[in-house]
Amino acid sequence: MCGIFAYTGEKRAAGILIDGLRVLEYRGYDSAGIYTAGSSAAVRAVGTVRNVADKAARLTGTSGIAHTRWATHGAPSEKNAHPHTDCNKSVWIVHNGIIENYKKLRERLTEHGHSFASETDSEVLAHLIEEHMKALGNDFEASARAALKEITGTYGVALMHKSLPGTVITARMGSPIVIGIGSGEYFIASDPTPILHHTKDVVYLNDGEFALISKKGYTISTLDNAAIERIPSTIEWNIDDVKKGGFEHFMLKEIIEEPEVILNAIRGRLVIEEGLAQLGGLREVEDKLAGIKRLVIVGCGSAYYAGVVGKYMLEEYAGIPTEVEIGSELRYRKMLFDEETAIIGISQSGETADTLAAIKEAQRKGVMTLGIVNAVGSTIARETEAGVYNHAGPEIGVASTKAFLSQLSVLALFTLFLGRQRDMSPVMGKRIAEELLLLPGKVERILNDRERIRTIAHKYEQTRDFLYIGRKYNSPIAYEGALKLKEVSYIHAEGYGAGEMKHGPLAMIDEAFPTFAIAPKDSVYEKMISNIEEIKARKGRVIALATEGDMTINEHVDDVIYMPKTLEMLSPILSVVPLQLFAYYIATARGFNVDRPRNLAKSVTVE
Ligand code: AGP
Repeated sequence: MCGIFAYTGEKRAAGILIDGLRVLEYRGYDSAGIYTAGSSAAVRAVGTVRNVADKAARLTGTSGIAHTRWATHGAPSEKNAHPHTDCNKSVWIVHNGIIENYKKLRERLTEHGHSFASETDSEVLAHLIEEHMKALGNDFEASARAALKEITGTYGVALMHKSLPGTVITARMGSPIVIGIGSGEYFIASDPTPILHHTKDVVYLNDGEFALISKKGYTISTLDNAAIERIPSTIEWNIDDVKKGGFEHFMLKEIIEEPEVILNAIRGRLVIEEGLAQLGGLREVEDKLAGIKRLVIVGCGSAYYAGVVGKYMLEEYAGIPTEVEIGSELRYRKMLFDEETAIIGISQSGETADTLAAIKEAQRKGVMTLGIVNAVGSTIARETEAGVYNHAGPEIGVASTKAFLSQLSVLALFTLFLGRQRDMSPVMGKRIAEELLLLPGKVERILNDRERIRTIAHKYEQTRDFLYIGRKYNSPIAYEGALKLKEVSYIHAEGYGAGEMKHGPLAMIDEAFPTFAIAPKDSVYEKMISNIEEIKARKGRVIALATEGDMTINEHVDDVIYMPKTLEMLSPILSVVPLQLFAYYIATARGFNVDRPRNLAKSVTVE
């Protein structure tokens, strides 16, 4: 939810920290701040990192901590911006997560004479460390350990003390922390993107772990100070991946990358002649998967809608009963799962709190857990028993676009993998595999037609409401299309299974309430035409998403966007692309920052 970044080495920290925050802003951007060793105070500002950069020019220390915030407790304001400090301005902290017992801790600390400067939960940690230092002979490290043990909730933190310039403590519980290993310098961040500019060698902290870092080196341990050896890994991404590459927005860049993203998802994973999917990340659980009788897919937002598409694929082509659950619901539900059930967590960031919590609850019940994750080394990737990486590269735009397409591609591979363990014939397997190989070119054709989509989008840019409808595989795509429009253009948009029109939504239709109808030439095409007729009869405007060559549909609708023909089970991989572009063009026409929509953050690592 927030982004934290810290540095210790020989260089001037302020400039490095500001640059790092700029890369992390997509995680949260309502306020920001930095503290560097030797300073008597932090510099903080409301709004984007740019507002802090000017103030930071005077900071000279060669180590420091920094934070860009997405408010969870306390409105966006300078006093609530991190870093936070204790009564003596000695302990400095930046925090990503939620301290659930902060009220009780704050009351106790206030009774002990502490005075608080902010409304945040995070500030409690600085005063708690101060309190422990009184009892532990001013031992900053021991006091940090003791304070963190009292925290209930989630944290990814970076901590400094004014008497220990160059020393940074970091720890995590539920919010990601990665340590970058430079030569004589170290970086700490919420995710690898800001570290990439300096080094590709990293170590990831696990929950309950603590690291003490200075320019001389680092040690990792448990909160109880039991040493941990962690072999560094190398980040796959490169710096260009996290730059806009000449596009005005990351969102458009990432949509344009989608043909390559499908290729990256399927590369080396198809055995065409035998119609098989080879998924290395499932090798160790292949036999166990052969015995699975039920699947439960869990995700949030777009990842959830990808899961609903996966359900249709897995039930129709692998013959496995599949449920799909929203993470924030499943984590609190009674889980009636057994050893013949497998949970599949879908998450681009691999850090979504609700999805992670549902996975952990399932694990506690002994259920097999798998992940479909994009961020390598992320928590969900490491917590699940096995899984499949998307290899989509970093997705910086808050709206999920290329990651969603990659999730659908991996779900198709999953379906092939499980289906060919069961009754799917080699012929059907080959048919799916061959069609998957053709999809990048088919997406390319849609992208080449994007000027027409832009023209149509501009006709609707002042619309206040939008309905999206689809059936079967394209019912979840109607919901995903509506989510895209909502989250980047702030227009009220609803997704619906088209068959539901008569059960309520039709009442909303009039000239001012247009509908996007996803109507490829598939097994429910005629039903979609009937739904379109219902809408037209009420003077509702309709944009149809149709299969290339379908001239009939023209007579029924106001605008048509065409997409190439493909297998019904793979049609969502094509149909979502025009909807992503449509949302992008309307939002940019309305002048909004599509990469950082208001009130949202890229990675929802708190409830
Ligand atoms: C979708 O455009 C949103 N950014 C959001 O719904 C996102 O899909 C959801 O928060 C899940 O994120 P994850 O894939 O990182 O778990």
